[in-house]
Formats: sequence, structure tokens, C-alpha cells
Amino acid sequence: MQFKIKILLFWLLVIACQDNLNNDSDSLSDSSTGVDTSRYSDVETLFANQCYQCHSEKEYSFYALNLDSYENIMAGSQNGQVVIPNDPINSMLYLKCAGEHSTGDRMPQGSPNYFDNNPDKLQLIYDWINFGCIE
Ligand code: HEC
Repeated sequence: MQFKIKILLFWLLVIACQDNLNNDSDSLSDSSTGVDTSRYSDVETLFANQCYQCHSEKEYSFYALNLDSYENIMAGSQNGQVVIPNDPINSMLYLKCAGEHSTGDRMPQGSPNYFDNNPDKLQLIYDWINFGCIE
């Protein structure tokens, strides 16, 4: 009896481990960087360096779009929301940086190749939106 229980526990352990391995490889193939989550603080410095000069309260904000705080980003521009949580490829902010937008210039305006040269930075924006625009 004791022996059977030990064998049973052994196989339960093996099965549990295999499940974990499968889950891990699934989540890795879902996102190219393999990060588990992303927060506003992950994109804040990028926006400060590349966007505040044209999209912050202190300066003139083009299209009434302020990117200088979490609340202001979520409030969007004069045209409405610029990020749709969990949906980067339909989010204006991501599309304008990726160069997949249909109107206006690629962002940051004046440096259209910035995100081609810094794909890791574009990935930060993608991840932040993809994980739900967490504050
Ligand atoms: C040199 C000034 C400048 C910089 C820097 C800049 N932008 Fe812009 N941005 C503009 C102007 C002007 C527009 C409106 C014209 C257009 O869409 O091309 C705009 C429009 C946008 C829009 C579309 C708003 C709407 O409702 O149509 C988004 C989103 C945006 N910018 C995001 C960003 C992000 C993100 C950055 C930083 C990575 C950035 N911008 C950097 C000047 C700038």
C-alpha cells in the first residue's frame, strides 16, 4: 500500500512538472522578449527622452496629447484614446511609433528612424500596452 502511494505521488510530480514546462514554453512563444509583465515605469523614461518635448503639459502639446503622466496618456489626444489596453496593434500610440500608422508622421516626429534603430524601445511600448497598460 505504502509503495503504491509513493509511485502515485512520483507520477503526479512528473506530470505536474511537464505541465509547467509546457506552460513556460507557451508563454515564451507568445511574446518575443519573454517578459512576464510591464508597468508604466518601464516606458516613462522613453517618453521623457523622446516625446515630452512635444507632448507634455509644460511645452505645447501637439494634438492635445500629453505623455507626461499615466493619467494623461490614458486620457488620449483631441482625437480620443491613443492606447487600447491589451491591443497594441490597434493602438495609435504604438502604430505611430512602429511606422504602421495611416495619417501624419511617424513618431518621434523629426527622428523617423528612431525605433528602427532601437527596436528594444519599441518592444517596451508594445509590451506595456499588450500587458494591459498597468499603472
Ligand atoms: C518634434 C515634435 C514631436 C515629437 C518629439 C513627438 N511628437 Fe507625436 N506628434 C507631433 C505632432 C506635430 C503630431 C500631429 C501630427 C501627426 O500626427 O503627424 C503628433 C501626433 C502624435 C500622435 C497622434 C495623435 C492623434 O490623435 O492623432 C501620437 C500617438 C504621438 N504623436 C505619439 C508620440 C510619441 C509616443 C512620441 C515619442 C516617442 C512622440 N509623439 C514624439 C509632434 C511630436
